[in-house]
Amino acid sequence: MSLSYFEIVGGNRLRGNVRIGGAKNAALPIMAASILCDGEIILHDVPNVADVNSLCELLRKLGVDADRREDGALRLIVRDEMNCRAEYDIVRKMRASICVLGPLLGKRRKVQVSMPGGCAIGDRPVDLHLRAMEKLGAEVELVSGDIVAKAKKLKGCEMFLGGPFGSTVLGTGNAMMAATLAEGVTVIEMAACEPEVVDLANFLNKCGAKITGQGTPRITVEGVKQLKGCEYRIIPDRIEAGTFMVAAAITNGEIKIENCRLDHLMAFVDRLAAVGVSVEKTDFGCIVSSARRLEPIEVTTQPFPGFPTDLQAQLMSLLCLADGNSIVTEKIFPDRFMHMPELNRMGARLRREGATVVVQGVKKLVGAPVMASDLRASAALVLAGLSARGVTKVNRIYHLLRGYERMEDKLRALGAEITRKEGGQAGDD
Ligand code: EPU
Repeated sequence: MSLSYFEIVGGNRLRGNVRIGGAKNAALPIMAASILCDGEIILHDVPNVADVNSLCELLRKLGVDADRREDGALRLIVRDEMNCRAEYDIVRKMRASICVLGPLLGKRRKVQVSMPGGCAIGDRPVDLHLRAMEKLGAEVELVSGDIVAKAKKLKGCEMFLGGPFGSTVLGTGNAMMAATLAEGVTVIEMAACEPEVVDLANFLNKCGAKITGQGTPRITVEGVKQLKGCEYRIIPDRIEAGTFMVAAAITNGEIKIENCRLDHLMAFVDRLAAVGVSVEKTDFGCIVSSARRLEPIEVTTQPFPGFPTDLQAQLMSLLCLADGNSIVTEKIFPDRFMHMPELNRMGARLRREGATVVVQGVKKLVGAPVMASDLRASAALVLAGLSARGVTKVNRIYHLLRGYERMEDKLRALGAEITRKEGGQAGDD
């Protein structure tokens, strides 16, 4: 693992245009769905990020050819259906590897996937994924840390996929993928409504699946005999777009964001408006600019269409500079606050009470060496660094590289002083 870090000299107002890439969290399950399909799949706008590369590596092990064409499109085609096992080495690196569970069971009728552990954002169970596979008729057991699921055939059913924290995004994806090749009709109740789930369903339908209700809590999947490959464009990454919106706001800048869908960011834009940030719709995106004074707000993360947990850390960086006290409550991953102590090292005043953080606004943040702990926390620290007085060193940016494509280039093009350097602190992980 390369230990690189970002050095940021804060204080520049960001101005200019940025183009948002395809959504990592839509691309990953869509790539995994290739396992279900006969024939070639061409995917456009798959971001070139570490998680995508890890999944390509896993898919190759599972007998899927995965290569980038010269024009950047990702080409996937199943070559061999023998291997059905996703090993710990790769699942450990990327929890989203669990998204091969549904397609492997659906197509190959057996699957062995290492049980994902927790991660920096907290405990991350997969009980709902397993419940879905069982409901469809699979026998599921845990053998030496691996989930082993088998089925002679899968049968359509009714399933409820709600847990203590609401719906599950990848669990809904797994259920849909396994059900596409099952016999009969499957109804998924309390399905996740996230745009990434809708994108997966739209892709599967283009391959010949019969899915309706995507984007609502009840998804119906009518089983079909076969899925074929197709050509498909991944939706824009709403989280990358939201991150650049905060970059504009936190530097008092003005950024034109292209390839961004505001209908995927309603709750986020609503909260930005409450803070006093202007988001003006354009033909292909929006223009974001900020008033000088930032109002304090209350915000609670929720499943879509609520405020996304994946933008909680970034918004918190902005709220550090609001004129008063804000309240941030995390309802999806109650421990997802690893950015908090690092922001405090930069002069923020944050105090945590359970799943809530009270953000006492300060006049300025000051540069400091800080440590990234997960993907979105890293983005929050970069944003804080852009606005801080002095130099911020964000260590361990390999977290950031998992999900943001060329972030430093994009920020530099907007006028930020940010450099990627080799070296940096190791330490406990
Ligand atoms: N949950 C259960 N049981 C399960 C599955 C989930 O209780 O079987 C709980 C989780 O612990 C959590 C809640 O349900 O409290 C929601 O988790 P979900 O399953 O929806 O998360 P996920 O599908 O594993 C995806 C994204 C995450 C994003 C969450 C929530 C991908 C690859 N990952 O994870 O993205 O935070 O949905 O929106 O799509 C990121 O990109 O930085 C990231 C972490």
